Amino acid sequence: DTTAATHSLIEAFRTAGQGQVFAFFDQLDEVGREKLLAQAATIDLAEVNALVLEHVQGDAGHGLDVTSLEPAAYIAHPAQGGDVAKWDVAWVAGAKALRAGRVAAFTVAGGQGTRLGYAGPKGTYPVTPVTQKTLFQVFAEKLLRSGERFGVTIPWFILTSEINNDATIAAFEAADFFGLERDSVHFIVQGLVPAVDYEGKILLADKGTIAMTPDGHGGSLRALVRSGAVDVMQQLGIDIVSYFQVDNPVVQCIDPSFIGFHVLGQSELSSKMVPKAYALEKVGVFCQQDGRALVVEYSDLPEQLQEETTAEGGIRFNGGSVAIHIFDRAFIARAGGAGADSKLPFHRADKKIPFVDAAGQLVNPEQANGVKFEMFVFDALPLAENPVIIEAAREDDFSPVKNAEGLDSPQTCQEDQLRMFARWLNAAGEPIETDASRLPQVRFEISPRFAVDQADFVARWAALASKPAIEEGVVIGD
Ligand code: UTP
Repeated sequence: DTTAATHSLIEAFRTAGQGQVFAFFDQLDEVGREKLLAQAATIDLAEVNALVLEHVQGDAGHGLDVTSLEPAAYIAHPAQGGDVAKWDVAWVAGAKALRAGRVAAFTVAGGQGTRLGYAGPKGTYPVTPVTQKTLFQVFAEKLLRSGERFGVTIPWFILTSEINNDATIAAFEAADFFGLERDSVHFIVQGLVPAVDYEGKILLADKGTIAMTPDGHGGSLRALVRSGAVDVMQQLGIDIVSYFQVDNPVVQCIDPSFIGFHVLGQSELSSKMVPKAYALEKVGVFCQQDGRALVVEYSDLPEQLQEETTAEGGIRFNGGSVAIHIFDRAFIARAGGAGADSKLPFHRADKKIPFVDAAGQLVNPEQANGVKFEMFVFDALPLAENPVIIEAAREDDFSPVKNAEGLDSPQTCQEDQLRMFARWLNAAGEPIETDASRLPQVRFEISPRFAVDQADFVARWAALASKPAIEEGVVIGD
């Protein structure tokens, strides 16, 4: 009966040393109590207490031996001395897999986007320079165009969290799914984990709400498994899952060459790397150790190693991780499954977490007062067989919107989009005027519905009977 269930749930929290979660239970009305109980029931107390033991009370050492780290091997980009013939073969293999309907797109959009400071789901943030299309619209149009190019409908899986799932779906509905077939879009809700204070006690956001945050982009793998999405993929004949982040509109969502290298390498998890912009750039670095590939966070890599140079004078640990991957579906089932050896580790992040204190007062801390736990998707890399890493050109794949201003902001991203459009036009034999940073002097746009990469653009532009003049405000292909 319900009272017995309630009682044993509260008792379980007390036994786990987390009884404070119910400190104000008696002050809540019926609805508030039900809500708190439902939230509490989703919490894996054993997991939380293990995390506290390891990361809050313990010394959070992750046991990474940096002395035996080496840079990971990768396939060089044609513009950087890579074998052009090999890239052509990969493109053909990727196109074949696409035409066979084996490929789905997967966007992780469950984050909170606190740095950008935008109220809605990040995917609803406007990013293109002229028409201000949102991130979701850009990806939707890229998938439509890629589908058209290869004669298929590309299913799209989108990771949300309980915090932004309803708003995300509402945005798709309001836009009539941006022209996509509704049933080709699958929303997956990721798990939440409670935030704790420095004593390891679960915090309350208000008297009837536990402070919980999404379990990181690494949580996407278990969310795909738990939600049944991997089974749906299997039923659809999908075994290649193209993974990208919601904040990066220039990404090639569907990159035939990347897919081809993944297929030809019989890889379980493939990754794109870009050369670091400078030695101490704050990006994870592709490494290898004991025959396994891994990404090491910049904060875990001693500066001396970050700055080490090769005999030729280049940066030795040069492989920057840009969160673009391809997963084998069966690998997702394994790495995101319940098997003991498949679990991704959690990482600790110290944050300012607003909370209700023992006296029932809401506190907005000025300094970090607690810990959030997150899994990182690249921690799946050492679990994968035959990992393939290919070199990408940063300007063709990576310009994220992370911050409201400065580095990786809406402004830098719009400028990078403009530079990309200018390069494509240039390649199509329509040079346009740019400044020294190769930024064009007019603001215009190439619709993702028209072309998704340079080769696509060059071919379609050549086929255009009447070509628009490139002037302020022009949109090609909408
Ligand atoms: P970030 O690490 O940049 O985090 O996420 P964020 O939540 O978007 O932004 P900040 O740090 O609060 O400013 C990188 C990508 O991973 C997704 C994000 O939506 C973004 O696409 N992500 C992150 C998830 O899907 N779930 C998470 O729990 C965390």
